[in-house]
Amino acid sequence: MYRTNTCGELRLADAGKVVTLAGWVQKNRRMGGMTFVDVRDRYGITQVVFNNDTDADLCEAASRLGREYVVQITGTVAERQSKNPNLPTGDIEIIARELKVLNRSEVPPFKIEDDTDGGDDLRMKYRYLDLRRSCVRRNLELRHRMAFEIRRYLDSLGFLEVETPVLIKSTPEGARDFVVPSRMNPGQFYALPQSPQTFKQLLMVSGFDRYFQIVKCFRDEDLRADRQPEFTQIDCEMSFVEQEDVLQVFEGLVKHIFKYVKDIDFTEPFPRMTWADAMKYYGSDKPDTRFGMRFVELKDLTVGKGFSVMDDAPYVGAICAPGCANYTRKQLDQLTEFVKRPQVGAKGMMWVKLEEDGSIKSSVGKFYTDDELRAWAERCEAKKGDLILILAGETMKTRKQLNELRLEMGSRLGLRDPQKFSCLWVVDFPLFEWDDETQRYYAMHHPFTSPNPDDIDKLETATGEVRATAYDMVVNGNELGGGSIRIHDSELQNKMFHLLGLSDEDAQYKFGFLMNAFKYGAPPHGGLAFGFDRFVSILAGLDSIRDTIAFPKNNSGRDVMIDAPSEIEQEQLDELSIALALKKEE
Ligand code: AMO
Repeated sequence: MYRTNTCGELRLADAGKVVTLAGWVQKNRRMGGMTFVDVRDRYGITQVVFNNDTDADLCEAASRLGREYVVQITGTVAERQSKNPNLPTGDIEIIARELKVLNRSEVPPFKIEDDTDGGDDLRMKYRYLDLRRSCVRRNLELRHRMAFEIRRYLDSLGFLEVETPVLIKSTPEGARDFVVPSRMNPGQFYALPQSPQTFKQLLMVSGFDRYFQIVKCFRDEDLRADRQPEFTQIDCEMSFVEQEDVLQVFEGLVKHIFKYVKDIDFTEPFPRMTWADAMKYYGSDKPDTRFGMRFVELKDLTVGKGFSVMDDAPYVGAICAPGCANYTRKQLDQLTEFVKRPQVGAKGMMWVKLEEDGSIKSSVGKFYTDDELRAWAERCEAKKGDLILILAGETMKTRKQLNELRLEMGSRLGLRDPQKFSCLWVVDFPLFEWDDETQRYYAMHHPFTSPNPDDIDKLETATGEVRATAYDMVVNGNELGGGSIRIHDSELQNKMFHLLGLSDEDAQYKFGFLMNAFKYGAPPHGGLAFGFDRFVSILAGLDSIRDTIAFPKNNSGRDVMIDAPSEIEQEQLDELSIALALKKEE
């Protein structure tokens, strides 16, 4: 037996017991005639004492231990003189009588402590060491507990977890596919699934009724803090349901997990907002509703006073930042710089201050009278001491810019507390999205999403206005999940493919298997998928989903630890009948 106890286990009640611990040397220090060694494992840290008077050689050996050495120590549990209230084991120490070095360690490249000196890149290269840090490990422990509880909850509602294949057919759903060459079928490729979407629908055709899967998905897209090329979904599908049934079941799941992890009771139903309102009031399909500052439209009040910025803009939108009338010129310049950054893209920003003394000041004061400015303030429901920030321009673009500004102000004013949670369903998404570049419609969710039955007659006449039976779960401004009621009728599905610019042959080639299946009695069905990494990161209050993944990729899609992707042998390429035609580096 390597150990009798873990390093997080022993308490005062164990005093007098002879125990053996095994773990890593967190640190050691020599003080007077003693050597103190902190031994760490997954469960905690225990202090071990070596006394020079009892065994000088052992004490000397202990003082020579390096950081991260793997040791086995036997000794007696004793009450500690100076207790450490910050450690669960802080009331005791082990008076050592045996020490065995199980393995030595080179000096680690960064400190294995919560407050480490290792930068991001270094920690990713040595991720196995980074994972020794308890703050990183805790995220994975939470992930495990959540996965376990989600499975338990869905099982209790009759959902079956069914695995779907990972080597599938390339049918891009919005992002690029990762593809895998087939040796046995030269010139042909599998794709890795962006989601199990079509398979879960086929399982509904097979009569499985309630399916879920905690499943890896793969998307070759530009990476951000909330995106990884391989990520995990809690993927779900149900038969004989309407939108309301799906929202009820999965609102239940989200509430259950909040209660389980955070002990938060959401007693009220989650609010619902149409996509149109989300864009109008927040300029985003995933509004952060932890705080107000909703958009107010001022176009009609600003037009016709000889100020071309307002006159020429189809849209003028404002937000009211409470208590910010005391912003200095420098602070306002910073905000202007913020909205002018390429990521935001505004040309400029206008402001109106309602001073505490009742006077009014504005960056556009020479175009508007005080009374006119007061009318704007009134519409914004601004009070003395408030600051109104205004952007003008093309409607959708400006709304998105104002969204960035609103989020920035929310952060500056401390209104985005990661320990406060605001959940929301966004519903009534448009079915299609127009793309100027390719001059065609794309499915906003995916091509299997059912149109809102009330809008079916608009499919050909007012395509862009058709609403989908699609919904997203938004938490604190993050898209936690999304789904839809599906088309289950092969004719309507065919029509949908046509509207998306797919020829009959294309549709047959890419999705023939699904359309064929629909000929054999497909039940009405619908579902959704949550981003599991995002779910964990929101509950853990993390900035990036990377911290919830044991071995994540960096922003260039690389695993810097194993150094992947990497070149392969010519022999492997030959076997796959693949010749490379690499573009010369500039
Ligand atoms: P969707 O594409 O909206 O829907 O994905 C569902 C959820 O998965 C998460 N997600 C991601 N998480 C991390 N990294 C990524 N690159 C990434 N992409 C998506 C998000 C998102 O809300 N098949 C449909 C679901 C359905 O209709 O049932 C689908 O995949 O949290």
